[in-house]
Amino acid sequence: MRIDILTLFPEAVRPMMEASILGRAAKKGLIEINCIQIRDFTDNKQQQVDDYPYGGGWGCVMMAQPLKACLDYVTDQAGPRKRRVIYMSPQGARFDQGHARRLVSAYDHLVLVCGHYEGVDERFIEKCCDEELSLGDFVLTGGEIPAMAIADSVCRMVPGVLSDPACYMGESHWDGLLEYPQYTRPETWEGLTVPEVLREGKHREIEAWRREQQLIRTQARRPDMFAAYVPQNPEEQRIVDRLTDREKLVFDCRPATAEDIPQLLAITAEASAYMRDCGVPQWQDDFPNADVFAADIAAGGCWLFTHDGERAGCMSLYTTPDWDYPAIRGAWLTEGDHYATIHRVAVGAAYRGRGLADEMMALGEDLAMGRGFGSVRVDTHEKNLSMRRLLERRGYVCCGTVTLTDTIEKDPLRVCYEKVF
Ligand SMILES: C[S@@+](CC[C@H](N)C(=O)[O-])C[C@H]1O[C@@H](n2cnc3c(N)ncnc32)[C@H](O)[C@@H]1O
Repeated sequence: MRIDILTLFPEAVRPMMEASILGRAAKKGLIEINCIQIRDFTDNKQQQVDDYPYGGGWGCVMMAQPLKACLDYVTDQAGPRKRRVIYMSPQGARFDQGHARRLVSAYDHLVLVCGHYEGVDERFIEKCCDEELSLGDFVLTGGEIPAMAIADSVCRMVPGVLSDPACYMGESHWDGLLEYPQYTRPETWEGLTVPEVLREGKHREIEAWRREQQLIRTQARRPDMFAAYVPQNPEEQRIVDRLTDREKLVFDCRPATAEDIPQLLAITAEASAYMRDCGVPQWQDDFPNADVFAADIAAGGCWLFTHDGERAGCMSLYTTPDWDYPAIRGAWLTEGDHYATIHRVAVGAAYRGRGLADEMMALGEDLAMGRGFGSVRVDTHEKNLSMRRLLERRGYVCCGTVTLTDTIEKDPLRVCYEKVF
């Protein structure tokens, strides 16, 4: 992984990037982090990098020319690579672990552009940047701290940088939970003793305790994450039910008819709002709409789930081959068209975290199997982590990506999964 940080203050960034774990990783050649002075690329004698804003107002704006010349220099130096140019901006998508995972897995060259003063000439962002990322909903004097944070969180996931992938895989935000509490010696400090289970050395009990602590912590500190978390096994489901003081709900289901379309739309509207709040750009563009559900129903495959007569969730099953799937970037597990596809798995707001998505997937799979299909395929947005976790837990294998052509959604890239019976 090569990271170029374009900045007016390389001397502030470099020591941090050369210290500790990242410094050692760079020495081993696992990563390369360069801090490039934008001022060296001006085409005026005074080495001026900023100017007054058109239209008036406070402060100065960084000019496009030095930024573009600096970017050209690093792209020439790095040569052809899987590159992403990212502008650090309080107006960008809020950076999280999902972004870090995407960047480390999809690219081997990141260019992080740090603005300063009032920001950067919009034309540079439009013409040269692939995306904008924000460190959070606050304004800093410059993009250097966000660039360091992004470089650090990405680089620690580069193979070999930490001693074992388990070092980062068990941590907060990896699988939708916060980490459990950690302790080290001495056993008792200021009257506080390390929990007994950790001192007894029984591996299985320690694991169970830690998982329970993760759930308890996440519920207490991040109710938003807790609500989105899909329990991974019956034991976790029991803990979640206990923590939320809930008993298992019984859902009814039936094939949907045209009269059910308003209910189906109400369910997907709640799911869309939830995805928007979680930063998932799926189902944000009047999709799925009434026409989509009418087509699902005509194809004979939409199911409405209810609880005590109240709409709770929906799922569609297609038994005809998907138009876009042959163009997968990657490889399906099975060849040919002998598969069914599950679409539009949506859970209403009142029933999140109650095991309904699992139940709906199980129905789709049973129906596909009963109709003699050898496998089920599903696609979802790469940022839809709840869905991806659900699929992986149910034994689906990630096969690649497709770009949907029959959708009105602005971001049609989808990750593909298949499960063979
Ligand atoms: C003072 S800020 C400019 C803010 C800009 N005028 C606005 O209101 O959106 C200067 C630079 O700091 C960086 N910056 C500030 N806050 C940031 C944040 N939360 N995330 C990422 N970068 C940030 C950006 O690179 C930005 O160009």
